[in-house]
Amino acid sequence: MRDFKGKIVFVTGGASGAGLGQAKVFGREGMKVCIADVRQEALDNAVKELIAFGIPEKDILAQKVDLTDRAQYTAAADKVEEVFGGPPHLLIQTAGVNSFGPIEASTFDDFDWVMGVCLNHVVNGLLIFVPRMIKAYAHKTEFWVATTSSMGAFMAGSGTGPYSAAKAAVNNLMYSYAEALKPYGSGATVLCPGNINSNIGNAEKFRPANLKNTGYHISEGTMASLRAIHATGIDPVELAEILKEGIENERIIVLPDHTPELRAQQLRGLNETIENYTLTGAERDALAAKRAEEMRKMFEEMAKANEGKDAPPPPMMGWGTPEGAEPFGKARDDLDWIDPSKKL
Ligand code: NAI
Repeated sequence: MRDFKGKIVFVTGGASGAGLGQAKVFGREGMKVCIADVRQEALDNAVKELIAFGIPEKDILAQKVDLTDRAQYTAAADKVEEVFGGPPHLLIQTAGVNSFGPIEASTFDDFDWVMGVCLNHVVNGLLIFVPRMIKAYAHKTEFWVATTSSMGAFMAGSGTGPYSAAKAAVNNLMYSYAEALKPYGSGATVLCPGNINSNIGNAEKFRPANLKNTGYHISEGTMASLRAIHATGIDPVELAEILKEGIENERIIVLPDHTPELRAQQLRGLNETIENYTLTGAERDALAAKRAEEMRKMFEEMAKANEGKDAPPPPMMGWGTPEGAEPFGKARDDLDWIDPSKKL
């Protein structure tokens, strides 16, 4: 998709961070900008920011929607057609939340919240919008679907279970849509950033009241640690420009990175680890040990390369805790089956 002017973009999570960056960049291309988010105050601020960015007020539609609620999401889609005369030409699903702690401490609420937003809202949007988009635009004009996933999609972390699982599923889903939409003259892109300068460190503050029973240790201190980490991430407008370039060039996966060679090495390592399981016995064990050592060295190098720079640190495992900050990723104190080292 190369021609954006006069068309409609629908951005989920568009009131903040990566989503707001996307609303700005595609709005600047002359698109009518629909943003959907669960936080009204953030939406009000976002509209002001979009206007200040040069997007005409008449081209902005901001809707308060809990995107995990299919009825609300469907009503928001109807509203887009009512206001702008058709479904979006570009759907970018970016809303997301995170919550970190030992996977064996997770509650149903942890899974329902994180997977509800990070995975189920993406499914909702695809099922609600794609049929409308095909009907309105196939073989007539360009249209595209995109989703913001994460580098976490490519790797599991024992402290990022629900998030990594949701993102891995989102990637897989987008590979399916990329293939499925080809005959209609369209396609799909999944954006997989490492670290974004956004407000996701505050996500726990907005956890819905009915999903608050977490197994993780969450406090003002753990949120401050996450905020400090995300403050070093990529700027959302810069990230959205990278996404735009990816969509223009019909890329299925977009991997923004300040250290691309190291990232490539990391992904190659992950793939090879899986490949090695096709081998048997001693041959596999030797390769696995060699690979583990290479990965360890590579993470060391990545951490060194990023030292003191405004660059994304290696995702998850290299994040660590900023000095003097409260560690995140620990379990709640009262869970009696958890290894004590995994509690504060
Ligand atoms: P953010 O917190 O600044 O923006 C996310 C937005 O999603 C918020 O405005 C929030 O209100 C909204 N949202 C949450 N639940 C919702 C719901 N049920 N319905 C509607 N809106 C909802 O965070 P950020 O970082 O910009 O997140 C955007 C995406 O980027 C997420 O999918 C996240 O997983 C992904 N990501 C973030 C990274 C980071 O370092 N911040 C790294 C890699 C991926």
